[in-house]
Amino acid sequence: MTKDERTLKINLPLLNTRMKGKRDMKKRILTGDRPTGPLHLGHYVGSLENRVMLQDKYECFFVIADYQVLTDHLKETKRIGEFIKEIVLDYLAVGINPEKSTIFIQSKIPEIAELTTYFSMMISLARVQRNPTVKEEIKASEISEVSYGFVGYPISQAADILSVRAHLVPVGEDQVAHIEQTREIARTFNRLFASIFPVPEALVGRVARLPGLDSQKMSKSRGNAIFLSDSSESVRKKIMRAITDPARIHPTDKGHPDVCNIFRYYVAFGNPPECEEIETSCKSGKIGCVNCKKRMVEIINGFLKPIREKRNHYANQSGFIKDVLITGNRRAREEAKKTLELVREAMHFDYKDLLGKDN
Ligand code: TRP
Ligand code: SF4
Repeated sequence: MTKDERTLKINLPLLNTRMKGKRDMKKRILTGDRPTGPLHLGHYVGSLENRVMLQDKYECFFVIADYQVLTDHLKETKRIGEFIKEIVLDYLAVGINPEKSTIFIQSKIPEIAELTTYFSMMISLARVQRNPTVKEEIKASEISEVSYGFVGYPISQAADILSVRAHLVPVGEDQVAHIEQTREIARTFNRLFASIFPVPEALVGRVARLPGLDSQKMSKSRGNAIFLSDSSESVRKKIMRAITDPARIHPTDKGHPDVCNIFRYYVAFGNPPECEEIETSCKSGKIGCVNCKKRMVEIINGFLKPIREKRNHYANQSGFIKDVLITGNRRAREEAKKTLELVREAMHFDYKDLLGKDN
């Protein structure tokens, strides 16, 4: 053994302890997605981009929320597994690193369901019914009868977040109402039992609401989204079909970028000088929508190119997704177990005197 090797051997345990200490000191992020289909550009600017940026600074947990699929897709559970795989691929493709961050499946952590039961007693029915995002979703959905679980899903989401005692939740604007509800639940628990939970903050992405190509809210079900996994040809077709400023009939008509959703894409994905140039040319009728859209096709395809390449790379590594999820589930469960021990103890639900310490 050389001197260097000896030093290395001796220092390794020390280093591990330090690393572990560091990991424990980092604040935590928890956020996630429903596995109802592939992720789109709205997800990227709303939340994914922040996740990638913050994954060194925070200890990150990303939940794939399969319970939430049941709210409005109860009869379409056959493809959940397939969608989970697609979402993990989307995560890896945008740069989420499974060696740094924990990716896990919600239903594989039974402690989340237990926490949901406790939390559901700590919020009033009236408060749950007042959540503006849930109200909007109920209106938009075509289900004839809204389930109790649908109205209550933000409580299960609070359990996701608080199961790992997260501090920060990067989300799209529509989710802020749920984080507000989570904050109230955390405060109520801390006041009633013991101060276990941080009161987490929402972090909204740099583009709060990227519209769909029909200028409605971007969503899979409306068919107005560009997916991270779309081919370049499909991106072209979608953008060329998009609705622009309705006042422009001839390419020389003076346009209004402020009401055009393509212009919102320039703001989100173009560089500032290009945005300015488009804005001026559009307002003075010097650029037609067809040309403007063609340039946008190039920008989006340029942005998606490395993402597509990374996606293919991981899709071809058999067994990789499975490993990521098994490791992630184990890691998330480890933390959730610790949290639930604290919760049960604080609520006198551990029955140590009655059953002994380990039962
Ligand atoms: N409701 C979120 C969405 O539809 C997904 C989600 C589930 C989530 N659990 C979460 C987001 C916890 C943030 C934190 O996008
Ligand atoms: Fe929109 Fe571009 Fe057409 Fe202006 S020129 S209305 S910014 S698509």
